[in-house]
Amino acid sequence: MKSIILDVDTGIDDSLAIAYAVHSPELEILGLTTCFGNVSVEKATRNSRLVLEKLGRTDIPVYAGAGETLKRGLNGDYPRVVHGDDGLGNLIDAEPTPEMATSEQHAVDFLIEQVKSKPGKVTYICVGPLTNLALALQKAPEITALLEEVIIMGGAVYTKGNITPHAEANIHRDPDAADFVFRSNLPLYLVGLDVTMQTLLPTEELAIWREQKGEVGSFFADMTEFYIDFYKKTNPGIKGCALHDPLAVGVAIDKSFVKLKPERLWVELEGEKEGKTNPNAQGRPLVNVCADVDEERFVKHFLGRVL
Ligand code: BDR
Ligand code: CA
Repeated sequence: MKSIILDVDTGIDDSLAIAYAVHSPELEILGLTTCFGNVSVEKATRNSRLVLEKLGRTDIPVYAGAGETLKRGLNGDYPRVVHGDDGLGNLIDAEPTPEMATSEQHAVDFLIEQVKSKPGKVTYICVGPLTNLALALQKAPEITALLEEVIIMGGAVYTKGNITPHAEANIHRDPDAADFVFRSNLPLYLVGLDVTMQTLLPTEELAIWREQKGEVGSFFADMTEFYIDFYKKTNPGIKGCALHDPLAVGVAIDKSFVKLKPERLWVELEGEKEGKTNPNAQGRPLVNVCADVDEERFVKHFLGRVL
């Protein structure tokens, strides 16, 4: 069993990633850490607790982390058209405030403590901006050698961006944090748009969730419908929404879902291409970039256990 900490900016596809991780027997979830990104860190933390309550897993602790970037304040607006004002497809007003409390420790301190107490045994999966990870590396650089793996949903190395023509949203939001992380000697896996835009959740699945998965199925179907509507408006002809964050969890479970290509990455920090992830940075450590994915096998695996 792999011990993981999942760093989220919850978010609709983050919620799907949480559900997939919760229902994966290969993973022991030590906790969730939260970050600003799709919504404020306060909303990301509340949404994470709400999703865990829906899934009946209030035993998984939630730690609040960074509320803004390393150097640039919020660095942009929340993507309300993608995830809703509340981050969960504008469903939350109809939902009670989660009873589950947020843990008191800061997300960065929780990560450092867990990695130090379980050397070589913790995998960190980051599916939002990389601010918490960069802060942890700055505070306790010794964890670089102690993390088992770090799996990042972010970037677009060989393909176009989504937040700009050049950049992917998580890297674009805090490019300094991402570039700092790519300079480290961490065992990094990058799950970018190169692969996540190939793994689509088909619209028809929502009817199955509504019919067969009870109240939790309807909740996930309603929020995912909002996400799919955004994808259909912005990508004519697409058959569903991209499973960005779930694929990072999938790679933690089984590397054979993807083909890896080692690259030395750097991030454009300013100008028109700000946030772009580029290969061929001389002198930098290698990152395992996911260059291709067996989308059929991954989507089947995801759908077979997410709810
Ligand atoms: C990433 O950006 C966020 O909107 C999603 O949750 C995902 O982590 C995709 O670019
Ligand atoms: Ca996310």
